[in-house]
Amino acid sequence: MNAGRELYSMAGVPKRHKDFRPDHHNKDEQWRWNYDKLKNLLTNRGIAGVFGKRGAGKTQACASVIGFCCLNLGKSAKYVKAFDLFLSIRNGNNPSSNTTEKQEVEKYCKPFLLVIDAFEVRGDTAFENRTMDHIIDRRYDEQRPTILISNEDKSSFSASLGISTLDRLKEGGGLIEFTKTSFRGSEESFYVLQQKQRIEKEDLERGIEF
Ligand SMILES: Nc1ncnc2c1ncn2[C@@H]1O[C@H](COP(=O)(O)OP(=O)(O)OP(=O)(O)O)[C@@H](O)[C@H]1O
Ligand SMILES: [Mg+2]
Repeated sequence: MNAGRELYSMAGVPKRHKDFRPDHHNKDEQWRWNYDKLKNLLTNRGIAGVFGKRGAGKTQACASVIGFCCLNLGKSAKYVKAFDLFLSIRNGNNPSSNTTEKQEVEKYCKPFLLVIDAFEVRGDTAFENRTMDHIIDRRYDEQRPTILISNEDKSSFSASLGISTLDRLKEGGGLIEFTKTSFRGSEESFYVLQQKQRIEKEDLERGIEF
């Protein structure tokens, strides 16, 4: 496996959102516009808050930026849902765990690009807010791009980001809204599924397993 492929396979992109090729699979202008803005984060080294309707392609766009980051730039990336991030950090506190809380926090500070999905699914406790602010601030200091994704509307999302993160968003990132009516069940997403299944079938025939 080449280095970029290895980085991509370690990034934790969900199977559903893997191997989407924006240039071939996407036919939606607004999605493309947002995807390009997100890609710019990799050079601007900014923080972006992605929000909008269910099924509008938020996770897919960010997963595709991870693909670009690993495969085209050869830089590391990580995808995680907020809930799993906190589970892993809490688990670090457990005496039987083989990693510490600090090591778990480092796991999210180190990758060049970090995508935190389902930002709204969290406890909103003082511990969680402090931990999230700390990870975002560490990454900001190191000029590592970070993307936060939420289903909330603009005002709730802005409130849950908190004033420190909202202010950091002004430098080379910002809020990016996905407004499309859900791709789920649409012709566009059916076309992508068919394309991916065709590639998977050809790979299986060539003896490459997923
Ligand atoms: N540009 C696109 N063209 C075709 N299909 C797409 C596109 N973007 C996303 N899809 C497909 O549509 C479905 C929904 O996309 P995705 O999961 O990214 O939405 P989401 O905005 O993250 O939704 P939610 O808010 O519910 O998490 C997925 O199967 C995805 O692969
Ligand atoms: Mg999603």
